[in-house]
Amino acid sequence: MTKEIVTVALGSDHAGLRLKEEIIKMLQEEEYVYKDFGTFCEESVDYPDIALDVAKAVKSGEYKRGILICGTGIGIGIAANKMDGIRAALCHDTFSAKASREHNDANILTMGERIIGPGLARDIAAIWLKTDFAGGRHARRVQKIIDIEKIKNSD
Ligand code: RB5
Repeated sequence: MTKEIVTVALGSDHAGLRLKEEIIKMLQEEEYVYKDFGTFCEESVDYPDIALDVAKAVKSGEYKRGILICGTGIGIGIAANKMDGIRAALCHDTFSAKASREHNDANILTMGERIIGPGLARDIAAIWLKTDFAGGRHARRVQKIIDIEKIKNSD
């Protein structure tokens, strides 16, 4: 079976800009196809705006995965998770990064520049991008997450 090509939509607010640049270096070294949805300078921006653009790009299928970075990784992940079909996981260690793919089929990784250094962040992103969803019992549970979206939308 041919392995699907993992394409990456990337975004950060001003507080995640430098870490995003480190992640871009890794994506280039590993020859990933990616698009940077901003921000592109140190001027203060609102993280939900960036989260929305990346979440749309992942939900539409234009990009398979997303990586979002803000100061903590929290706000940008909360915002992304408001969109149906998005499973954004905040990971500041490689174990969680691997598990978020294998167990939760996370399609967006979030990290905080004010929390972790560039070396660890690069490792987390690299492992997260390489790890496949394990399926099986986890597929049933992910489907139940999707079902909650349906209930929410029928209220
Ligand atoms: C910006 O100052 C900061 O609030 C933001 O990057 C993020 O950490 C929010 O969750």
